[in-house]
Amino acid sequence: MAHIEIRNLEKSFGDTPVLRGIDLTIERGEFIAVLGPSGCGKSTLLRIVAGLEAHDRGHVLMDGRIVDGLAPKTRDVAVVFQSYALYPHMTVAQNLSLPLVMRDLTRPERLPFVRHLSGRVKRMRADIRGAVERAASLVKIEGLLDRKPAQLSGGQRQRVALARALIRKPALFLLDEPLSNLDATLRASTRAEIVQLQRTLGITAVYVTHDQTEAMTMSDRIAIMIEGRIVQVGTAREIYHHPTDVRAALFIGTPKMNLFDGIADCSAIRLAATGTVVTRAAGARDGAVQIGVRPEHIVLEPEGPGDAIPVAVTHLEFLGSEALVHVAVGEGTQSTPAIARLDPDVAETLKVGQTAYARFRPGALHLFDNDGKCLDLDGRRPLSSIPGPLDQDDAAAGAQRVVGQAMVGVRNAG
Ligand SMILES: Nc1ncnc2c1ncn2[C@@H]1O[C@H](COP(=O)(O)OP(=O)(O)OP(=O)(O)O)[C@@H](O)[C@H]1O
Ligand SMILES: [Mg+2]
Repeated sequence: MAHIEIRNLEKSFGDTPVLRGIDLTIERGEFIAVLGPSGCGKSTLLRIVAGLEAHDRGHVLMDGRIVDGLAPKTRDVAVVFQSYALYPHMTVAQNLSLPLVMRDLTRPERLPFVRHLSGRVKRMRADIRGAVERAASLVKIEGLLDRKPAQLSGGQRQRVALARALIRKPALFLLDEPLSNLDATLRASTRAEIVQLQRTLGITAVYVTHDQTEAMTMSDRIAIMIEGRIVQVGTAREIYHHPTDVRAALFIGTPKMNLFDGIADCSAIRLAATGTVVTRAAGARDGAVQIGVRPEHIVLEPEGPGDAIPVAVTHLEFLGSEALVHVAVGEGTQSTPAIARLDPDVAETLKVGQTAYARFRPGALHLFDNDGKCLDLDGRRPLSSIPGPLDQDDAAAGAQRVVGQAMVGVRNAG
């Protein structure tokens, strides 16, 4: 189990910077997901940590020791790639035993036709057979040991790749989108199995993915990576409720957080599209801001109080236990699309084309400046850190602090 520290890591391919100063600490036994869009540099980061790629600046430390320049095999790291990289001409058993054979036996000792084996080699081979059987049973492929990779399904190949990575009991387990070739059902069950394996074995793990569900369901913490930078590190819950950067806010949560252009004057934040005051904020600096609201934090009703925001209902999606209501806030070129997540019985009362009335739940607003950083409006505490309704303990306090502010609105649409 390794402690990993990545310090100010930089990497360019030619003139193109790919990693622009990555800092990340991974605790012993932690499962961390690196989540980001395609091309943001996730695989490059993983390859550098594995020692498969050289970096330009910064350091990688394992257990406090700088490992820059150390060959992959001396780092005690196992990697599982998206393409499982199994040897097609070898059986599953041979694929699994290979890392141990390469580590424990000399070149002549590896030859299968050597007849007179020393006691040591016999013991080694028996140990390796035992390890192969244990690894196979860990990922439930005991019955497949004599097959070749071509005779396996995608999911079975993926298990073989996992078992092969784990058989050496590495200190660090690196996984690069290992589930992307699996269908949705198999993905979901394998997610849980990988986490169980990692917990059972107590290995530190870094899991690279562009799939927020994988990151949120599997990891202890998530590092959100955008354009070669890590913009936020935290638990799924922390990033969901308290995003420090608008890009992190947009990457976590389905449907995405709604974003509205806003205008701050010295005492209030207004929706640019309608002029509605969404929160009073003493000390707000004048200028443009972005207002973020999660879909479940929009209350939508056919008839609203005078201070609600009039919106046009554009589309309804019934999903069984919930409904997504698509709306347009404001009119013409100023209009902004948004999605509210409602109880289906409430959504039932709405019709496409009608005007409905929206309010934002107290304590659930996120405000970002033009650079996408969360805004500290009152100079004491970022508004985005005011607890959302799911933080039960603080909900009442949060609601009291903002109630009557976020809900202030004007009726201005015809
Ligand atoms: N060997 C290379 N030579 C030149 N450019 C490269 C090389 N490897 C990666 N890149 C570029 O670096 C950027 C980051 O690539 P990387 O594979 O790390 O992204 P990623 O986040 O893993 O993307 P994906 O989710 O699609 O796998 C991309 O723009 C890619 O084209
Ligand atoms: Mg990649």
